[in-house]
Amino acid sequence: MKPDDKPPIDATARKPIVPNRLYAPYLEASWGFKNAWYPALFSSEVGENEVKGVTIASHDIALRRVKGRVHAIQDRCAHRGVKMSLRPTCLTDETITCWYHGFTYGLNDGTLKTIVASPDDPLIGQVRIRTYPVEERAGIIFVFVGDEDYAPAPPLTADLPIQITDDANPVAHILDAHVYVRGIHREGNSNWRIAVENGFDPGHLLIHWDNVIVAATDRRMGLGARPIAEDAIKIIDEPNGPRGMMNMYNTRAYKFFMENKVIGMKARGKTPYYARTSVYLPGVLLVEHWPVPGWAQYEWYVPTDDRHHVYWEVLVGHCRDDQERREADYLYDHFFEPLALRDFNDNDVFAREAMQDFYENRDGWNAETLCAFDESVIMWRKIAARFNRGIQDPPHRRGR
Ligand code: FES
Ligand SMILES: [Fe+2]
Repeated sequence: MKPDDKPPIDATARKPIVPNRLYAPYLEASWGFKNAWYPALFSSEVGENEVKGVTIASHDIALRRVKGRVHAIQDRCAHRGVKMSLRPTCLTDETITCWYHGFTYGLNDGTLKTIVASPDDPLIGQVRIRTYPVEERAGIIFVFVGDEDYAPAPPLTADLPIQITDDANPVAHILDAHVYVRGIHREGNSNWRIAVENGFDPGHLLIHWDNVIVAATDRRMGLGARPIAEDAIKIIDEPNGPRGMMNMYNTRAYKFFMENKVIGMKARGKTPYYARTSVYLPGVLLVEHWPVPGWAQYEWYVPTDDRHHVYWEVLVGHCRDDQERREADYLYDHFFEPLALRDFNDNDVFAREAMQDFYENRDGWNAETLCAFDESVIMWRKIAARFNRGIQDPPHRRGR
């Protein structure tokens, strides 16, 4: 082979060039990235004095709301390791008590304050479990998950999609005043990276080809798009702000495929439609002008362990008064949730779960054969490898 010959591509063999060296840290992040803000629950899911347990990137966390404020504390008792949220026991406003033997911890600092049946125990004041920073915004409880001594925690805005400014009709940002924010979350049976890579994938429209929302709105959705210009994918690297990338969908930067003559397939629909996708650390998607113009869909893929994530689907729109809010509720209940968040995104969930076996058991990260439109996926991997604030250790390496 001459020096400038390209090695042959053989999909059945191990690749001669291993492109994943360019993003090797990403491949280590099976359990997610640490030192990042993740959504834990909707505000409405933790009522006054309620305790709820969540797991984020292997951290078991109990959330308790007291006098309106949500506290986040390790959901593993220091004594024998049970989850306190399994049988919530709160005997004062300032503490949470383990239901088993009564170890009682301060909500603010996690210090062992007393033990129900051993109030003079020498362990009291000497033992603590960890607590987590919490921000409750836009009806969502966000928790900063990672190293306890990571300081200072970045602002929540650093881990959210950017504020859109380059659009004639910009979509609302989730932290704007007067926004409507509603959505769902559900368990995803795949690694979080497989899920995030599906969200902005410009080549996967085939799975949405016959979805109800597309047919019912006569939407002209192509077969897919491939980046063709140098600046087709914009890197977002704001000082102290979000880091990620945006697919700059326009006909100069992307080639849109409306027809495939080999198989006689043509895009259906007559209504022109424009949407744009961008994705940010630690794994949050923004789809502008979806499910209808002027609205935005946010998605988080919150790692639970190395095989599961929580899939968040949240719609954000402008809403100035109660009348608009009622109209938005009507649209959400009868259109957005059933047709966009369920029917349309059910296909994405199906695809992610279908990939899991390949990536988990069949060396998928090395055995995959990426094609031209996957430039977008590769760019995300490189950005994620470069800009993360640390890779989450699995629990057996991290302790409790
Ligand atoms: S396991 Fe929690 S007090 Fe014993
Ligand atoms: Fe999709």
